[in-house]
Amino acid sequence: MVDFTFYAPTKIYFGKGKQKLVGKIIKDYGFKKIMLHYGKGSIKRSGLYDEVTESLKENGIEYTEFGGVEPNPKLGPVRRGAEICKNENVELILAVGGGSVIDSAKVIAEAAVCDTDPWEFMNKTKIPEKSLPVGVILTLSATGSEMSASAVITNEDGGFKRGYTTDFHKPLFSILNPELTYTVDKFQTACGIVDIMMHTIDRYFSETKNVDIQDNISEGLLRSVIKTGKDALENPEDYEARANLMWAGSLSHNDITGAGREWFFPCHQLEHEISGRYDFVAHGAGLAVVFPAWAKYVYKSAVERFCRFAVNVWNIDRNLDAPEKTALEGIYACENYFKSIGMPVRLNELGIGDEAFDEMAEKCTFFGKRVIKPFIDLDKEKIKEVYKLMLD
Ligand code: NZQ
Ligand code: ZN
Repeated sequence: MVDFTFYAPTKIYFGKGKQKLVGKIIKDYGFKKIMLHYGKGSIKRSGLYDEVTESLKENGIEYTEFGGVEPNPKLGPVRRGAEICKNENVELILAVGGGSVIDSAKVIAEAAVCDTDPWEFMNKTKIPEKSLPVGVILTLSATGSEMSASAVITNEDGGFKRGYTTDFHKPLFSILNPELTYTVDKFQTACGIVDIMMHTIDRYFSETKNVDIQDNISEGLLRSVIKTGKDALENPEDYEARANLMWAGSLSHNDITGAGREWFFPCHQLEHEISGRYDFVAHGAGLAVVFPAWAKYVYKSAVERFCRFAVNVWNIDRNLDAPEKTALEGIYACENYFKSIGMPVRLNELGIGDEAFDEMAEKCTFFGKRVIKPFIDLDKEKIKEVYKLMLD
C-alpha cells in the first residue's frame, strides 16, 4: 500500500424527503444569499424546483437563479455564472441536478472569488486558492461528483474536455434522496451504472500490490451495482435499488477505493476525448465502449489482476492452466453486462467512425506531454490502436 491522505468532508443527508431540509441546512450554516444552479428543466418537470424554492423562502434565504446547464457542461456558462456570483454577492452555490450541474457549480465557485479565467484551472496553468462553498441536491446516480474532488468542463473552443481535482471541489453538503432518481430514464440510469462501475474499475486496475481492503471494497461495490443496477432498470421506483445505486455512486468516487494505491483513470482519460469531441455522447455510454477495448489491449500485461476481477466480480471459475483465458472471460462478462443494460459497446453504435482518432489521441496525450498508464504506457500511436479496437 502506498501512503495517502484521505479527506471526505462532505456532509451527507440521505433519505426520503431530505430535499425539504435544504433551506434550514443553509440557514444553519449562516448563509443568506445563494445561487440556485440547475440544468435544462428536469427539476421543473419533477416538482423539485418548487420544493427547493419553497424551502429557501420559508427559511429567509435569498436566491438568484442560473439554470440551463447542458450535459457535458461548457466553459462559457461557467464564466457567466462566476460573473453573476460576483455581481450579486452570492455566498453559496446550490447545485440541483446531476454531475453536469454539480461540476459547473464547482468551477463557478472557484472562478467567482478570483480574477483567474476558469480555463486556466482546467488547463492546470493556475491552481484555485479559494472557493465559495457548494451544496448539492443530487438527482442522478452516476458521477459521484456529490462527494468527489473532481470537476469536468468542456471548452467549446476546440472541444477540449478537461477535469481537475482539488479539495475545494468537495461539496460542503450533499442531499441524497433516492426517490429523486425515479424519473431518470432507462438510458441515463444505465449510463450512471457504467459510470459508477468505472470509477471503481479505473482505480482497481492499478499496479500497487497489497491493497486487499481496497480490493475487497471495490469488488463488493461492483457486485452490488451489477445487481441493484438491473433491479433499478426493471423497476425504476424500487426504492432500495435506487438507494443502493445512489450510495454506491458516492462511495465509488470519494476515493475510498483509491486511497493507498496509485491510480491513473485510463478509461476516463480515453473517454473524455470522445464526449469532448462528440458532444452528444453521454459520459457513461462512452465508458461502456472504452473499457472492453482498453482491457483487451492491456490485459496480457496484468493477467493476475484481470483474473481476480473475473473471479471475484463476475464469478468466473479460475482456469489454473490458462489464466489468460480467465482474464479475458472477465472482460467479456463486463462487456456483456454493459450490452444487457442497453449500453453501446462499439463506437459505431454511437455513430462514430475513425475520422478523428489522430486528433483525439494527440489531445489525450496533452500534445505529447503524457502517456496513459497503467500496465502499458499508451502514447499517441498506442492510443490510436485502442481506439481502433472500439470499431470492431
Ligand atoms: O438538464 P436536466 O434537465 O436536469 O436533465 C438531465 C440531463 O439531460 C437529466 N436528469 C438529471 N436528473 C434527472 C434527469 N432526468 C430526469 N430525472 C432526473 N432526476 O439527465 C441528463 C444527464 O445529466 P448529467 O448531469 O449530464 O449526467 P451525469 O450525472 O452523468 O453527469 C455527466 C457529466 O459529469 C462528468 C461527465 O464527464 C459529464 O460531463 N463527470 C464528472 C465527474 C466528477 N465531477 O467527479 C466524474 C465523472 O467521471 C464524469 O467525468
Ligand atoms: Zn466517470
